[in-house]
Amino acid sequence: MATVLVTGSNRGIGLEFARQYAASGWRVIATCRNPDAAAELGAITGDIEVRKLDMMDLGAIDALAGDLDGTAIDVLLLNAGINPQPEAPPSGGTDYVAWADAFRTNTMAPLRAAVAFAEHVTSSEQKVIASISSGSASIERNPGGNYVYRSTKAALNLCMSGLSKEFKDRGTTIIMLSPGWVRTDMGGPNAARSPEESISDMRAIIEGLGPEDNGRFVHYDGTDVPW
Ligand SMILES: NC(=O)c1ccc[n+]([C@@H]2O[C@H](COP(=O)([O-])OP(=O)(O)OC[C@H]3O[C@@H](n4cnc5c(N)ncnc54)[C@H](OP(=O)(O)O)[C@@H]3O)[C@@H](O)[C@H]2O)c1
Repeated sequence: MATVLVTGSNRGIGLEFARQYAASGWRVIATCRNPDAAAELGAITGDIEVRKLDMMDLGAIDALAGDLDGTAIDVLLLNAGINPQPEAPPSGGTDYVAWADAFRTNTMAPLRAAVAFAEHVTSSEQKVIASISSGSASIERNPGGNYVYRSTKAALNLCMSGLSKEFKDRGTTIIMLSPGWVRTDMGGPNAARSPEESISDMRAIIEGLGPEDNGRFVHYDGTDVPW
């Protein structure tokens, strides 16, 4: 059976990915900052293993990859993310300290994980690295504001797009996914889509991936998001 590793799987989109993959019989390696407090994750039944991973700690990413040496990972789902200034202030209101944390969490950590787990992915059947990006990272569609979040996700896209070229000969498919506006702590209660719908759509995209999809920035409905 296929294996998925999910980062930030204790709530929101990551939790729903863990739920749906476990329900489909996948082996799930569900990572989160604090497994002892992850009650909903702990309640998921199936072939699921919860591992501690704080993505701010880049050394911990390497350590977990070392611990899981020899484990084939079909889908590496880089989901953990933060949006510290969701009210989208103009440039004058930018919180530069929060920006550094967001850059570490949303950009540096996923890149570090993609590199640290590269062998795990290339030794699997499906060989997919999927990062949860955001449609709000599109430069073409950028209305202004929220410099922190948008820039870190745009930088994530740039790094993963680069990696898709660097890793091409390894047979991996690296994509960036836009989940839409989803009802989670980050998305808020008025968001358009439920986690169930969004994750089910993104799983279908992952399921149908082929080599031609390598390097794409894909919306949950399968269309390309303009860079
Ligand atoms: N919801 C939306 O509408 C939407 C739209 C576009 C993109 N996204 C992206 O989708 C992903 C998931 O978002 P969400 O809506 O599920 O947000 P959420 O409800 O706020 O959940 C965020 C998840 O990321 C984890 N996380 C944050 N920092 C972490 C760290 N340093 N190490 C490990 N885990 C960390 C959180 O863990 P803790 O509980 O420990 O904080 C939590 O599990 C994010 O990358 C987000 O940018 C969401």
